[in-house]
Amino acid sequence: MPAARVAACLCVRLVWQEQQSLAECLPAALDQVPARDRGFVQALVYQTIRHFQELDALARSALNKPLKRKDGDIHSLILVGLCQLRYMDTPDHALVNATVEATQVLNKPWARGLVNALLRKAIRGQLTAPATEEARWNHPAWLLKQFRAAWPDHWQSLVEANQTPGPMTLRLNLQQQTRADWLTTLEAAGLAGQPTRISPYGVTLTEAGPVDTIPGFSDGQVSVQDEAAQMAVHWLEPQPGERILDACAAPGGKTGHILELTGGRAEVTALDISGRRLARVEENLQRLGLQATLKKAAAEQPDQWWDGQPFDRILLDVPCSGTGVIRRHPDIKLIRRPDDVATLVALQARLLDVAWTALKPGGTLLYATCSVLPEENSAQIEQFLARTPGADIEPLPYPDGVTETHGLPGPLGEQWLPQKDGADGFYYCRLRKHPDNGSSTQSGESGIAPAPQDPGAGRNIP
Ligand SMILES: C[S@@+](CC[C@H](N)C(=O)[O-])C[C@H]1O[C@@H](n2cnc3c(N)ncnc32)[C@H](O)[C@@H]1O
Repeated sequence: MPAARVAACLCVRLVWQEQQSLAECLPAALDQVPARDRGFVQALVYQTIRHFQELDALARSALNKPLKRKDGDIHSLILVGLCQLRYMDTPDHALVNATVEATQVLNKPWARGLVNALLRKAIRGQLTAPATEEARWNHPAWLLKQFRAAWPDHWQSLVEANQTPGPMTLRLNLQQQTRADWLTTLEAAGLAGQPTRISPYGVTLTEAGPVDTIPGFSDGQVSVQDEAAQMAVHWLEPQPGERILDACAAPGGKTGHILELTGGRAEVTALDISGRRLARVEENLQRLGLQATLKKAAAEQPDQWWDGQPFDRILLDVPCSGTGVIRRHPDIKLIRRPDDVATLVALQARLLDVAWTALKPGGTLLYATCSVLPEENSAQIEQFLARTPGADIEPLPYPDGVTETHGLPGPLGEQWLPQKDGADGFYYCRLRKHPDNGSSTQSGESGIAPAPQDPGAGRNIP
């Protein structure tokens, strides 16, 4: 199957050399191969990206001189070949043949001998990678440095958890069924799962599978969502009848959860800057049979979306480094740059300030990230509190009966680090606006001019 190796290596190249995310380039790569090969190509791409630093060091140690940038496809093909050898159960002769044949499909016959010799050397155990920290832990050096500094006692388990694929966890709509009843239905369908340890809504499947095999998925009784993400809306504590803003909503996992917990009886506005991603919110809500007002807008520009009426609760699930979900998105290790974190921190601060002005006195704002970097989390909140009078941190109560948490509770919110076989890495901080802190939230007095209300604006997704 040289075509499968070609599709895989071209996708790896796009992530490595062009900083494309897997979400952007993998679907097109899978379209290039017959349906029967798609599972293999996806696994090969994920494994190669997950072990990129180690495979790259191995390949470079064998090359007399690095390949030119324009031959990034051949370099990626070598990584894909080495990955099969180390991490997949393809027989050696089959993987060498197919990988070498792929050089023809790539129209680079000159690379045939090179790829063949290198893979055969690896099979004979004659390749050893230099023992760099990057290759050993399969993370870029700048990220290792940040993890070490932030989590001196936990960085190794954090990095190991990042290398272990996350489990498939589901969120149940408890308005429609109890977790015990649904587990019985799951068993009847020949599948197995365990209740999540902390989220009262979650079930972790023993084995991941296609969503259409999961009972109740198509009619919205069940959604795919990690346990950590489930806790954001749990701690937002949305109530029926409230006006709620989900400020960075797409693809809508948490918008759906807000509506489920309020029985569809909250007035929810879901914003996102990306029209393409907002369309996913629409699809998800349709599956759940729930409704929100969707608006494509930059949340930090309230004149694009705010009518000046304050919200009872705001979920601010901000764009972030994604360093808590590397196990699900290993491409983050290749596409993020150290400078990105500072840019994100500045945007998050702006989003916090603007969302705060749109919050009612006495209202609750839940700030969340899927990051494990303190700049985006506790330090971000520390700075917010220092510049914002009238903001208090509220404790995050764990559900009854929970004795062991994933959290590293601090005075400035709660940090979860990714757990092998458990939840993703996440950060939460619940902020409450003093009830007498009204003046800055009234229309026209916030210093930010609200836009005139446009009753038709809500449903349009350009
Ligand atoms: C962490 S994701 C949100 C996940 C979502 N809450 C969920 O549970 O499905 C962050 C989202 O913020 C959006 N975003 C990025 N910059 C934004 C901005 N300036 N204003 C509003 N949304 C933004 C991104 O398009 C992305 O969909």
